[in-house]
Amino acid sequence: MNRKAKIAVFASGSGSNFEAIEEACRNGDLHAEIVIVVTDQPAAFVVERARQVDARIVAFQPKAFQSKNAYEEAILRELNDVGAEWLVLAGYMRLIGPVLLTAYQSHIINIHPSLLPAFPGKDAIGQAIAHGVKVTGVTVHLVDAGMDTGLILAQQAVDVVDGDAEKTAEVIHAVEHELYKDTLNVLFRR
Ligand code: GRF
Repeated sequence: MNRKAKIAVFASGSGSNFEAIEEACRNGDLHAEIVIVVTDQPAAFVVERARQVDARIVAFQPKAFQSKNAYEEAILRELNDVGAEWLVLAGYMRLIGPVLLTAYQSHIINIHPSLLPAFPGKDAIGQAIAHGVKVTGVTVHLVDAGMDTGLILAQQAVDVVDGDAEKTAEVIHAVEHELYKDTLNVLFRR
């Protein structure tokens, strides 16, 4: 079997997807190795989760840099340092800019809690509930310069539970953890 893909996980929040990916790497369910975790939110819970598993973490504050390019160039140096081959976004709440898009063309993946192109951007589950849809879901896609607009790689539908955001989110997160792993495995085994 070919060698493991070296991945950087980007996250800004709780990091349940990071945790699922890390566990899958450790169990051999995902043919990859997390070489670095990148966050723009040093106080986010994902940092705690990353520390618990001794992952290397980079937590730059975007506002400490003169420009988005300078911020991403600093990240790129860290990614090069550890030989990251794929950027796996897991609740990273920023648009990826030209520096990383150019360096990692077609190698940046995102997961989004809706059936894109419906409900892009923030609070996709809340948007779905507000629209009264009965079915929403999860999308894994390549990242381009737009907001959740890149090539769709995989989707799974999820029924809205009792018109309730919290209950639906619980199902969505469970689906995300499986769908992300399965989709990444297909990409990494090529
Ligand atoms: C997930 O719903 C993901 O689809 C979206 O952000 C959320 C991150 O959740 N992009 P977590 O931090 O992995 O728990």
